[in-house]
Amino acid sequence: MPTDVAARVIANRPLSSDYNVLALAAPGIAAAALPGQFVMLRPGTGGDPLLRRPFSVFEILRDRSGAATGLTILSKRIGPSTSLLYDAREGQRVACLGPLGRPFTIVDPPSRAWMVAGGVGLAPFATLAQTLRAGGVPSTLFYGARSGAELFYLDFFRDLGVELVLTTEDGSVGERGRVVAPLDRRLSSLAPADPVMLYACGPEGMLAATARTAMQYGRACEVSVERIMGCGLGGCYSCVVPMRGGDGAFHHVRSCLAGPVLRADQISWDKD
Ligand SMILES: Cc1cc2nc3c(=O)[nH]c(=O)nc-3n(C[C@H](O)[C@H](O)[C@H](O)COP(=O)(O)OP(=O)(O)OC[C@H]3O[C@@H](n4cnc5c(N)ncnc54)[C@H](O)[C@@H]3O)c2cc1C
Ligand code: FES
Repeated sequence: MPTDVAARVIANRPLSSDYNVLALAAPGIAAAALPGQFVMLRPGTGGDPLLRRPFSVFEILRDRSGAATGLTILSKRIGPSTSLLYDAREGQRVACLGPLGRPFTIVDPPSRAWMVAGGVGLAPFATLAQTLRAGGVPSTLFYGARSGAELFYLDFFRDLGVELVLTTEDGSVGERGRVVAPLDRRLSSLAPADPVMLYACGPEGMLAATARTAMQYGRACEVSVERIMGCGLGGCYSCVVPMRGGDGAFHHVRSCLAGPVLRADQISWDKD
């Protein structure tokens, strides 16, 4: 059951001129959140921006006893709300509603898990990687960004034993180009009897390319879609995604309720 709190900003760490990690005191939401779920945040106190914005739960903060004390979000500044989140000060309050949405399906060994992240699409994978590690699932993160300066938290994933496959558009770190290229190569060389689950989050073009690659090799894939969300609760229909039904016809589902994690092979990628 989601709860709505005026969460206190515990810390705000800039990672670059656009990215920051904001820590919020929201113990109830943090304790209930599952990998892939999100919160709706409103940082301002006035009416602008009026609507909350969706953010993946990035990390769960815990005290020494292991009890959840809060959560962080990884934010990329692109407009008014993310600018306020970038500039947020310790002690300030942020309206925080969550946890919301459908989480990732967690696989068990012997299946491997391959996470595919583009830019700020890294956000849902910190908690997913921790959960997979706890379950003993061998994990790989395919992580692409524009440049090496926009690849974050690499040591966090290395410390969890996650294999990293990095790509950058400018070639400054890892392979030059898009993250789907090494994913395709890996899938082509994986024995068909070796089970693997793909999880993807990032720009829609990257999600579509990942979904097509997964389908080409007959691999299960879940994507976390990032549609514009007005409410996060199913009331406004701003977040719909065209999905194929069992009869082959497509219909629209609200990604805040049915998602944000959806089966890649059921999304109608060429329709909107
Ligand atoms: C489930 C979910 C989880 C998300 N998790 C994160 C996260 O962890 N970190 C993060 O930085 N962002 C995340 N986002 C995206 C984030 O919600 C938007 O960046 C935010 O709403 C922008 O708000 P703003 O007021 O700063 O800019 P706005 O003025 O609202 O938007 C600026 C521009 O970006 C466009 N835009 C806004 N939202 C989206 C979107 N979802 N997709 C494509 N274009 C968009 C707008 O049309 C506008 O042109 C997530 C989105 C969803 C749906
Ligand atoms: S965000 Fe309002 S219905 Fe999904």
